[in-house]
Amino acid sequence: MTVDLDDSDYDLGSYANFMHKEIAEQPESVRRALLGRLDDRFGTARLGGLNFDPRDLRRIRRVKFFGCGSAYYAGQLGANLVEEWARLPADAEPASELRYRNPVVEEDTLYVAISQSGETADTLAAVQELQRKGGKVIGAVNTVGSAIARECGSGVFLHAGPEVSVASTKAYTNMTVVFAMLALSLGRVRDLSVSDGSRIVAALDSLPQLISEVLDGEDAISEVAKEHSGAERMFFIGRVRGWPVAREGAQKLKEISYVHAEAYQAGELKHGPLALIDPAMPSVVIVPDDELLSKNISTIEQIKSRGGPVIALTNAELPDGLADSVIRVPRSEPEVDPILFTIPLQVFAYHLAHHLGRDIDKPRNLAKSVTVE
Ligand code: AGP
Repeated sequence: MTVDLDDSDYDLGSYANFMHKEIAEQPESVRRALLGRLDDRFGTARLGGLNFDPRDLRRIRRVKFFGCGSAYYAGQLGANLVEEWARLPADAEPASELRYRNPVVEEDTLYVAISQSGETADTLAAVQELQRKGGKVIGAVNTVGSAIARECGSGVFLHAGPEVSVASTKAYTNMTVVFAMLALSLGRVRDLSVSDGSRIVAALDSLPQLISEVLDGEDAISEVAKEHSGAERMFFIGRVRGWPVAREGAQKLKEISYVHAEAYQAGELKHGPLALIDPAMPSVVIVPDDELLSKNISTIEQIKSRGGPVIALTNAELPDGLADSVIRVPRSEPEVDPILFTIPLQVFAYHLAHHLGRDIDKPRNLAKSVTVE
């Protein structure tokens, strides 16, 4: 597949900045990531750039995702999906750690290098170190012809289109969509049934529409962001599927608003961080309507009983008055929720930074592409 880009990709049009434009482009950029890759008949996905036949896919015994910043968080979401659908051990690690810690490299592990720019120095160095040890590395890269894409040789392009804003939005989302397709194809050569595969294909196929619905609610999210724009610190709390969502939500907020945003696993709160909860520390709690709903409701109650304001991000019906503010997310399949749940947090971070008058596309101290150590 080829993706035609023109000057309008670098033109702001009616948008005040690129981050806002790139958030709005996501129904279309996700559609591009999915185009020609979903196989409805067999309930699977085909990622042509990998050049893997089913036997190659079956030989994989472990998957390791690596990248930096948001790319690493996208990898964590991908690792969760690989474990869930393919029942293969999978994890994610910052490339900046992986490259220096003399990793054990196994022949039957698939290493996935993740990068929007394809030029991040730590990710490139990790690719080279793994390859030097005989590891099989594929790229999940947005920029065609970039150093990481060339070094990996095979992989999956993200097709997000050029991303200008320092804060990644559409490229991050396309990483997660591509990892869902990778996890699905690994699952379908193992024990994932055709009916589960078809259910997942349908859920991925409907993502562009569901993202449009999230974006239709932008004004309401902006109001919530405005209400909390006086906060100097904020928690993002998630559990299991919600954990990478919380990390990426905190990442977006901290980089463009300079609010101290920290992500924490819900179950770990009582082991220390609860001491930080007070009326000046709002918590964004990720509450998908899945088998952990009651646990996440208890988390909100724990925070509330210590005087902490709660913003619930949810597709469930929560008891009245449980949270101070609610950001609603459309329903999808539970495994696909983490992809969709991140979009309103991008919108939340964007509007909060906007209310604070920040330079959104060019936050202080940060570069779009980190080509130095
Ligand atoms: C994302 O919002 C950040 N600006 C940053 O964490 C970024 O994802 C990271 O530097 C990796 O960049 P890459 O995807 O171009 O490798």
